[in-house]
Amino acid sequence: MKNLAINGGSKFIEHGLKPRFNIGVEEKNAVMALFDKAISTGHAIGYNGEEETAFCSKFCDMMGGGYADGVNSGTTAVFVALRALELEPFSEVIVSPITDPGGMMPIVMNNCIPVVADSDEGTYNIGPKQIEEKITKNTKAVIVAHIMGEPCDMEGIMEVARKYDLKVVEDCAQSHFALLNGKPVGSFGHVASFSTMFGKHFNTGGQGGIVYTKDHDLYWKIRQYADRGKPFGLAPGSSNTVASLNFNMDDFGAAIGIVQLDKVKTIIAKRRQLVDYMKTKLSETKTLTAPEIISGAEPSYWFFRIEIDESKLTCSKNTFLEAVIAEGVDLLKDYSIAMPYLMDWFVNEKAFGTGHFPWSASQYQGTYGNEFVCENAANVCKKCFNLHLYESWTTNEIDQIIGAFKKVEDVYCQ
Ligand SMILES: Cc1ncc(COP(=O)(O)O)c(C=O)c1O
Repeated sequence: MKNLAINGGSKFIEHGLKPRFNIGVEEKNAVMALFDKAISTGHAIGYNGEEETAFCSKFCDMMGGGYADGVNSGTTAVFVALRALELEPFSEVIVSPITDPGGMMPIVMNNCIPVVADSDEGTYNIGPKQIEEKITKNTKAVIVAHIMGEPCDMEGIMEVARKYDLKVVEDCAQSHFALLNGKPVGSFGHVASFSTMFGKHFNTGGQGGIVYTKDHDLYWKIRQYADRGKPFGLAPGSSNTVASLNFNMDDFGAAIGIVQLDKVKTIIAKRRQLVDYMKTKLSETKTLTAPEIISGAEPSYWFFRIEIDESKLTCSKNTFLEAVIAEGVDLLKDYSIAMPYLMDWFVNEKAFGTGHFPWSASQYQGTYGNEFVCENAANVCKKCFNLHLYESWTTNEIDQIIGAFKKVEDVYCQ
């Protein structure tokens, strides 16, 4: 007990794990080239320029076709995706139980009503059966978040969507280029949103996002709603067509994104290799296993979700994982921190003013005051934790992580 780092003993991973090193001189050169161009030509660095065009076209090539628009965050990507669907206010939008607030708040900011469906048993991801259970006559769309780089059951979800004529937004903020049956997530639904903030598989600098679709008409709506209703795709002479805000990506972000797209396939391949190795090493532990994932899925592993058997511990999962963190392992102990429907804003229905709008609006034809219980999501959060994973690592880092777990198991395992 005494030798645990949490009790003052020395850390198993003495100098910490290697950082990610996901920005290199190539990104710096891309940004500097924009400065050089601006200085030599006298023209400012802007937005919607050739960098964004090149970035979006490269992204679409990697998605297997389609259309993309760069925006300034994953949250605004979800917002613009929903706006472009032109849902009537007070429509119900079914949403994943486990997601970022930025994956759910855009529903309310669109004056629609979020309806939370449970996850598929044993996963963080919303499931088709759970979506179907929540459909009412007011349901018009679903936002499906692929969490931790694991694809949702998109075949099943699209079948439900077709049956009830629902629009599907795939929120790929955590799952860039994850595959299901060989197809990238984001290419199954009507429209997809991506976050490209600094911690994602690839980034466009500190913040950024992409809205993606295979539907040409929808693409023009996306462009319009992402930029104050400008008449993109409309006849010359048209004026701003709808009220919106300015969510544009700027050309610095796009220039970084172009370079990052060159790297992302290697990044994902490396993460998959590390997870494959980690899976072989989990058998050396007494408490850890890799969770089942849906058939046909090739995750892109934003983090690696791991199951822990609490019944084999002499302490709580929380105490055990705190001790592992103290040994130098970077992990999220309990992902119920990513359940926006349990947060104050949702519980207190606080979006606009003090009157619980839009939930309480008289125009809303559904049931006001719905409470959401998501047992599968709660259970999976209890059973799992999320391990940080950096493509800069080798098997050496994984060995150290496993070593740290084994050290703590020696104290806290039966
Ligand atoms: C599932 C999900 N949706 C949306 C977002 C919001 O993205 P951003 O932080 O770029 O606004 C995130 C952020 O991580 C996310 O994980």
